[in-house]
Amino acid sequence: MRSVVLLSSAVLVLASLTAASQTSTTAKAPLAPPQPAAQTPPMGWNSWNYFAEKVDDKGVRDAADQLIATGMKDAGYIYVNIDDTWEGQRDASGVLHSNSKFPDMKALADYVHSKGLKIGIYSSPGPHTCAVYEGSFGHEVQDAQLYAQWGIDYLKYDLCGFIPEVMEKQAPNDKAAQMRLMVAAYDKMNKALKSTGRPIVFSLCQYGWDAVWEWAPSVGGNLWRTTGDVSPNWDRIYAIVSQQAGLEKYAGPGHWNDPDMLEVGNGNLTLAENRSHFSLWAMLAAPLLAGNDLPNMKPEIKAILTNRDVIAIDQDSLGKQGTRAYSEGETDVWVRPLAGGALAVAIVNAGDNRYSTHPFHLSLAKLGLHGPQTGKDLWTGMPITLREAEPLELSRHDVLLVRIDAPK
Ligand code: GLA
Repeated sequence: MRSVVLLSSAVLVLASLTAASQTSTTAKAPLAPPQPAAQTPPMGWNSWNYFAEKVDDKGVRDAADQLIATGMKDAGYIYVNIDDTWEGQRDASGVLHSNSKFPDMKALADYVHSKGLKIGIYSSPGPHTCAVYEGSFGHEVQDAQLYAQWGIDYLKYDLCGFIPEVMEKQAPNDKAAQMRLMVAAYDKMNKALKSTGRPIVFSLCQYGWDAVWEWAPSVGGNLWRTTGDVSPNWDRIYAIVSQQAGLEKYAGPGHWNDPDMLEVGNGNLTLAENRSHFSLWAMLAAPLLAGNDLPNMKPEIKAILTNRDVIAIDQDSLGKQGTRAYSEGETDVWVRPLAGGALAVAIVNAGDNRYSTHPFHLSLAKLGLHGPQTGKDLWTGMPITLREAEPLELSRHDVLLVRIDAPK
């Protein structure tokens, strides 16, 4: 009997070896190991900028559906990120439950994944989040495990409650000690996420404190907010942009400066302002997280968010963030080196009152360029030639964004 069993198992082994060798001759190349996270700036949608605390399960499903229906997914928007106010209470064993707006987080994650999208969530290292919901303080490992069980792909970790409830309590009047507590808190969640074995993009949100760009990668940060919150008005957007100049050396594949989520389509931004906002985020190699009401998006807003040429600047494989080459009064000129020796140039009129009687004159020499440069105007889609000292007329808060494939 025993020899029969041994023999039959030998036959089985042989059969499976033969099957394996047959498949290996017909199969395609072996699967490549998974890419490390955020090799290009993450793209997707986040609930906060438009829905804030009104986000719920249906709103997130609708956003996922709309990413597909609008062609945004095809243009690269992959993450569907739930921001603050999903959190419920912890049970007796400390396990956090979502609140009644999100009856079944695992089912929601499965739904988002079934659409070929990824899902993100939000928490705080403090006992409470910014909107005073339950944070992860003291439950970091437990929460990371929970996210992994649900199938979460992205975590935005927002300092907020940690400031008054931990930093200021444990180290009153000692800013340096407070900052050390902050860094340690991010490192703790980084390790908790890593210990799950699930790749989860780690987004630091602490408003740029203590030059976060210098230390975020050492605590696993794939992106980090560089400023306080964006809002849907030009002055705030422009103030944020101005604070990005000089941070370019900290960005690269897997680790990005985050000037906050997009406000394209929100508030009373004009079309010119929406275009400039989107163009500058692309020049900054910023994460592109749309924050608008996708089911009610106007066609002209969709056209901005899905402009493939502009997205290609943002997602350029070289991964070099743009720099502000020079400013002249209220006009800024940004340049971004691209893969294959190409160059993107963005000229922004940040002011309100420049008229064609005194147009802006572009200095190609200040960009290190010599002679006429032929390229593509990424908002008209038309060829364009930029000439030294050429007068350029840009309306209020508008942008000229040009890709030059062979700069000279
Ligand atoms: C902070 C963050 C925002 C958002 C809110 C949620 O203000 O900076 O992006 O996440 O908290 O409460």
